[in-house]
Amino acid sequence: MPVAVIVGMQWGDEGKGKIIDLLAENADVVARYQGGHNAGHTICFNEKQFVLHLIPSGIFHEDKLCVIGNGVVVDPQALVAEMHQLEETGINLQGRLLISDRANIIMPYHGTSDKGRESESGFQKIGTTGRGIGPSYADKIARAGIRICDLRDEAYLTERLRANHDEKQKILKSLYGTELPGFNSLLDELMSHRETILKYTADTHIFLRDQIAQGKHILCEGAQGTMLDVDHGTYPFVTSSNSTAGGACTGLGIPPTKVDRVLGVIKAYTTRVGEGPFPTELSDADGERLGKVGHEFGATTGRPRRCGWFDAVVARYGVHINGVDALILTKVDVLDGFKTIKVCTGYKYKGKVFPDMPADPGVMANCEPVYAEFDGWSENTVGIQDHDKLPQNAKDYISRLSDLVETPFMMISTGPDREQTIQRESLF
Ligand code: IMP
Repeated sequence: MPVAVIVGMQWGDEGKGKIIDLLAENADVVARYQGGHNAGHTICFNEKQFVLHLIPSGIFHEDKLCVIGNGVVVDPQALVAEMHQLEETGINLQGRLLISDRANIIMPYHGTSDKGRESESGFQKIGTTGRGIGPSYADKIARAGIRICDLRDEAYLTERLRANHDEKQKILKSLYGTELPGFNSLLDELMSHRETILKYTADTHIFLRDQIAQGKHILCEGAQGTMLDVDHGTYPFVTSSNSTAGGACTGLGIPPTKVDRVLGVIKAYTTRVGEGPFPTELSDADGERLGKVGHEFGATTGRPRRCGWFDAVVARYGVHINGVDALILTKVDVLDGFKTIKVCTGYKYKGKVFPDMPADPGVMANCEPVYAEFDGWSENTVGIQDHDKLPQNAKDYISRLSDLVETPFMMISTGPDREQTIQRESLF
């Protein structure tokens, strides 16, 4: 089973960072396939907490190689800052980090455009991270983007940046009255990171092809989650990349025939950051408690996350869209002490129950969730490592979730630390 894709099953923040860090112990390579520094993967060990935005969550294992794939959009300043931060904590990156020469670059004008559209335009506000993700992917698809490989050729880079600068200057000025920094300052900023980035740049699909040929174990790391996927999520309230499992193939150059396993990471309840429909959202004391106990604040922006009950419609959809073989359930301990726990099994809209995901955002935004209720447990489950030691009601809850989504849980997380995990099956 050399290649496994790890995908978020909800609206991101399922705890993928911890899980990938843990699974990386038995892997050789961790390769991130989409998104940018909008992601925030939190990893805790040795009583310390680290938040990664761009660099794959295997970096804390000294003998693992980490790849930033072609499907990622890279902000050079954010990348170099993250690299320095890791090096300052004693993590060696030399020979361990590979950045795809085909990855697109996020430029400062992408951030300006992202924030401008969020605050000024007639479009619905998405609640983006403001990091320029959407405009950067838009340029990529429009074939106007600047790629990491362009850093190798100063003349070509200058020409490409000049065309972009001229175009964006006009657009941003007329739409938002924003004055862009001068062309030379943008070029100088880019050039200041050039040497550092090029030291780590590689044709990563060739590297991955060779690793696969050698039978090495590769974890493909997804960012965000299924419901934020630009094609399959709650459009338009999504991110601008394919966070679902298929994104691993296009975002890394790994052929679909080489993917052996897909694992879905899913939280025992649901959260969402930013705007958009969220059928099981709670605006009562239960929601407040999930947010407080679960420390539900964005790892990238610090925004409080909206909280709600587990949504089996979302989970079933994620299993189907991603072809999930097994699930990893996180944050079960956050439900300790709830008298009753609810799970949404369908959406009721205009008298009809939707057991599957509707495409129309109006249905999701205005539906009434159909709930199944479970008795909670009063015992503390934090740090439990043995499934048999879970309270009976917790076991019943987990087993019922598994039935509802027709997929087994191979791992259950009972706290943020590596050790706070029930491992029922190993990956490789
Ligand atoms: P963008 O990716 O910054 O364009 O934001 C689009 C939507 O995705 C917004 O609702 C963000 O809050 C959400 N989003 C982006 N990255 C993450 C993440 O890593 N976790 C959760 N939500 C995210």
